Amino acid sequence: MQITVVKHPLVQHKLALLRAENVSTNKFRLLTEELARLLAYEATRDLPLESTMIAGWCGPVEVQQVKGKKLTVVPILRAGIGMLNGVLDLVPSAKISVVGLARNEETLQPEPYFEKFVGNLEDRLALIIDPMLATGGSLVATIDMLKRNGCKDIKAIVMVAAPEGVKLVNDAHPDVEIVAASLDSHLNEQGYIIPGLGDAGDKIFGTT
Ligand code: URA
Repeated sequence: MQITVVKHPLVQHKLALLRAENVSTNKFRLLTEELARLLAYEATRDLPLESTMIAGWCGPVEVQQVKGKKLTVVPILRAGIGMLNGVLDLVPSAKISVVGLARNEETLQPEPYFEKFVGNLEDRLALIIDPMLATGGSLVATIDMLKRNGCKDIKAIVMVAAPEGVKLVNDAHPDVEIVAASLDSHLNEQGYIIPGLGDAGDKIFGTT
């Protein structure tokens, strides 16, 4: 499977705090941001570097800098917004593309009701953010949309993934790496990830 589960102790600790039954909205939101920051660190580990000479304190010094790779962060509405600031902390000049999807009750497929992509997608790494990878339908639809608009380099950052969703994404888009804090057990009949976090959007926005 094209999934990287980040086992770093801080990632696992923050995920454990998120799983608590009575976690407050404020705490859930803060932890989501912190976790997104740590997962983005992992997702950007292979950004290309280039050597340049700069004037250092004791004269010219050769340094490594990220090689002009442009980025776009792609939150999937609504819950993806909760991860946005954490990712932007690491890549503050990244441009933001936004996707909103709703389920068509006849076809049961996710359909876009909002899409606003930045330009030059063919030159950018797209980091899709959505806290929960459940059935995978929304993530596959978002990847389809990005590819249709020319994007060739795509990763997904999620907090918790279900095997069912990972399989759907892997089957449709084997080139897309998923970075997650956990690969959980399964989906229940209502489509919730078990043990999961419950409804992450409700917990981030306080709409429970
Ligand atoms: N969306 C959520 O917020 N939680 C789940 O468990 C599945 C989808």
